[in-house]
Amino acid sequence: MRIAIPKERGVGENRVAASVEVIGKLTALGCTVVIEADAGEGAATPDQTYKDAGAEIAKDFAATVKGADMVWKITPPTKTEASKLTKGQIVAASLSALTDPQGAEMLSKSGVTGFAMELMPRISRAQSMDILSSQANLAGYKAVLNAADTYGRAFPMMMTAAGTVPPARAFIMGVGVAGLQAIATAKRLGAAVSATDVRPATKEQVASLGGKFLEVDPEMEKEAETEGGYAKEMPPEYFEKQKQKVRDHLPKQDIVVTTALIPGRPAPKLITKDMVESMKSGAVIVDMAAEAGGNCEMTKPGEIFTTPNGVIIDGRLNLPSMLAETASSLFAKNLFNFVSPHFDKESGKFAFDEEDKTVEGTMVCKDGKITNERVSEALSAKKPAAKKTAAKKSAAKKTTDTKDEKGA
Ligand code: NAI
Repeated sequence: MRIAIPKERGVGENRVAASVEVIGKLTALGCTVVIEADAGEGAATPDQTYKDAGAEIAKDFAATVKGADMVWKITPPTKTEASKLTKGQIVAASLSALTDPQGAEMLSKSGVTGFAMELMPRISRAQSMDILSSQANLAGYKAVLNAADTYGRAFPMMMTAAGTVPPARAFIMGVGVAGLQAIATAKRLGAAVSATDVRPATKEQVASLGGKFLEVDPEMEKEAETEGGYAKEMPPEYFEKQKQKVRDHLPKQDIVVTTALIPGRPAPKLITKDMVESMKSGAVIVDMAAEAGGNCEMTKPGEIFTTPNGVIIDGRLNLPSMLAETASSLFAKNLFNFVSPHFDKESGKFAFDEEDKTVEGTMVCKDGKITNERVSEALSAKKPAAKKTAAKKSAAKKTTDTKDEKGA
C-alpha cells in the first residue's frame, strides 16, 4: 500500500497531513509513505525528518500521488490536483463536502473514493478520528492566546507594589469543543470567565471549568440539541432574549471569544453593531466563526481591525494553521485512527467496511458516483441556483443585445 501525502498549497495553510509518529505506524503496517518535497515546511518539519521516520520524498504533486492507493490531505484537492488523481485511488481529507458539494462532484468524476473527514459521525468510537474536534480544540486555545496578545492589559489579577491590577473579564459564546478549550485557556491565564450556549449540557461543563454560565432561557434550550450533539437553529424569540442578556453583559467584558456554529448554516449573529459600540475601548473580540460569516455583525473574515470606539475585532481564519506542527500531528493521527481498523493484515491492504458507521458517514463518492445523501441534496440545492443565474445572464444578454440593436 502506498500512502501519498502532498504539500498543501492554500494561502495561509501551514499544516500537512503527516507526522513522524504516523509515518512510523504506517510503515510498521508495511505501507510505503510518500511525502511531497517541502510538505512540512510550514509545520517546522524538514524532509529529512520524514525520511528518517521511513518516508520517501517525491519532487512534486504528480510524482507524490503517482501509483498511490491512498492520498491524505488537509484541504480538498484543487482542480489541477484532482486532474492528476486516478480512478480507484482513495482520498481522505477535509473536503468541505456540504458547503462545496461541487468539489465532491469533481472528485467523483476523477473516479476516486472520497472520504470527507469533516462528516465523521459523532459517536464515542469516532472521537479519535474527529478532525473537527482535534482542530477546534487547538483553535480555541489559539484564539485566547491571540486575544491576550492583542489586548493591551494583563489577564491575571496582580497585586504589585505599584498597585493592584484587576483580572481581565473573558466571555466565551458557544461552548463546544473550541469554547471549552477557550474557557480553560482563559482561566489558566487568570481571567474571570463567563460563557453561554444554547445546549443545556454546557451549563455544568462551564461550571466545572470554573466559569460562570450566562443563562438565556432554560425552557427553550431543552430542545436546542440534535441527536448528533450539535446545536439546532433557535427561533427568533430566543435570539431576542439572548441579545438582551448579551447586551447587558458585553459592556463589562474585556475579551470576547465567539465560537457559535450550526452545521451547514451561516453562523448565528450574536453580537450586533450597537453591542460592539457599547463595549470598552481596548476590548478584543475574536470571532472564531468568521469562516461561516461570523458571530459578530462587524467581523471582516480574514481581517483584524479596530472599530471607531476602539474595540479590536479579530476575524482571522484558520487558527489551527497557526499551530501547524501540533495541528498536523493530530490531523494525521485522526486519519490513521480512521483507516487503521480497515487494514487487512493478510493481504497487506486497506479494505474499507462500507457498513461501518465511520466509513458510511464520511464516504462522499465512489466509482464515479456521489454516495452521500446530504452531499447529493446540497448539490441539487446549488444546481437550480446555477440554472437561475444562467437564465438571468441570458436574459441580461438579451436586454443588452436588444439595447445594442436599438443603439445601432
Ligand atoms: P459546533 O462547532 O458546531 O458549535 C460550537 C458551539 O456553538 C456549540 O456548543 C453550539 O451549541 C453553540 N451554539 C450554536 N448556536 C448558538 C447560539 N445561538 N448561541 C450560543 N451558542 C450557540 O460544535 P462542536 O464544538 O463541534 O461540538 C458540539 C458537540 O459535539 C459537543 O457537545 C461536543 O462534545 C460533541 N462532540 C462529540 C464528538 C464525538 O462523540 N465523537 C466529537 C466532537 C464533539
